[in-house]
Amino acid sequence: MNSSNVTVIGLQWGDEGKGKIVDALAGVSKYVVRFCGGANAGHTVEVGDQKYALHLIPCGVLTEGVTNVVGNGVAFDPAVACEEIAGLEARGIMLGPDNMIVSANAHMVMPWHKTEDILSEKALADGKKIGTTARGIGPCYADKARRSTAIRTGELLDTEKLSARIREIAAIKNKYFQALYDQAPLDADGIIADYIEYARSLGPLIANTGAILRQAITDGEAILFEGGQGSMLDIDHGTYPFVTSSPVTACGVPTGAGIAPSAIGIVVGLIKAYTTRVGAGPFPSEQDNQTGEYLREKGHEYGTTTGRPRRCGWFDATAVRYAADITGELALSLLDVLSGLDELKICTGYIVDGEKMTQFDPAVMDRAECVYETLPGWSQDITACKTYDELPEAARNYVDTVERIVGRTIGFISVGPERTQTIFHNTKVKGLK
Ligand code: GDP
Ligand code: IMO
Ligand code: MG
Repeated sequence: MNSSNVTVIGLQWGDEGKGKIVDALAGVSKYVVRFCGGANAGHTVEVGDQKYALHLIPCGVLTEGVTNVVGNGVAFDPAVACEEIAGLEARGIMLGPDNMIVSANAHMVMPWHKTEDILSEKALADGKKIGTTARGIGPCYADKARRSTAIRTGELLDTEKLSARIREIAAIKNKYFQALYDQAPLDADGIIADYIEYARSLGPLIANTGAILRQAITDGEAILFEGGQGSMLDIDHGTYPFVTSSPVTACGVPTGAGIAPSAIGIVVGLIKAYTTRVGAGPFPSEQDNQTGEYLREKGHEYGTTTGRPRRCGWFDATAVRYAADITGELALSLLDVLSGLDELKICTGYIVDGEKMTQFDPAVMDRAECVYETLPGWSQDITACKTYDELPEAARNYVDTVERIVGRTIGFISVGPERTQTIFHNTKVKGLK
């Protein structure tokens, strides 16, 4: 295993604070690589008094000397990329081929994907709606699997051929939208004009990113793989069908970045000290009450991408243990949000149909009731703690209990959104100071 490489993934339903940890680790990396999802992600980074919300651009962008890579597994929306690059440039963060490359094989999100995402959700009955981010992610990956109606980012490099492809596919989509949703035809000329403009801006960034990363591995350069979403939203292992459409666990890294499985390095599974979920689907430890409200307000639990209020609940150690089975060490984030609660609960198992269950099974989570272990809370503000020993006893006990129940070492503890509010605990990641 190449131990200078690190993979950071979410182990819950997303928004675990991946952006913050990736930024905190970017200083010991030469490359920061996105391998799954797309602009459905919303990764927040705080550096000093500056706050950034990144969707498609990797979180290494705020660290000098890092090459940011959008891998082939990403659903790449050029409209969002151009907007995000312009926003960063307006804040003095310049992006060009020296510090940002995009895989020619990444599938492109087209306007019809966003239209379909919205229309298909609307057509679903209550209880069946997934509550997607409406970023066109599912339809883009569906076209990727269908092949004949897909367009990859490399096709931006030949705008004549691209224009013909857009016209051809728009005609197919028009028939589909008309038949299913009685929708007005797409403006193919307008789409072509927009994509020619994106080609002009993004063309210089398009590269064979897999080959570049494989060479970097041969040269022993450190690579940080930045996960999107969370394991419970994984297309195969999550709470299907209430999931996203790409492989988001560490197993998605080799295929989504084009590297060998042995090169993913140390896998850091990020967990927040409680649980949140945005969108529909089972969530056994949800607290649709004052506790949930407390966590939402104190943790500012509103979607980074859509602004939707996140559903909040207690830490579900059984769900995390399931996700952690394909992980190395853990990172625990947002621990500071729990300060001020008299007692804390951790879900250690479920009752399903009257039977006790100690394992998470996505198939039955819609009728699972949680069994909790109750721990004492703490009242102190912990946002200035720099070491584990500085944490109050009850907070250390909470950390140790999570470690024990999940059965994995906690490498990092995050006690605030800012880059430096990170405690390096039992991590195997090298070179950190
Ligand atoms: P991501 O999608 O996993 O990158 O997470 P988001 O950025 O969507 O949501 C995490 C939120 O928690 C952001 O607003 C972060 O700034 C914030 N955050 C991250 N770590 C911590 C922490 O340890 N404490 C607090 N209070 N906020 C944190
Ligand atoms: P980050 O990277 C939280 C959720 C949506 C919805 C489901 C499917 O910021 O953690 P999609 O638009 O992907 O088809 O929606 O997945 N979802 C996320 N929830 N954080 C994310 O990303 C998410 N990306 C998708 O809310 O329930
Ligand atoms: Mg997020």
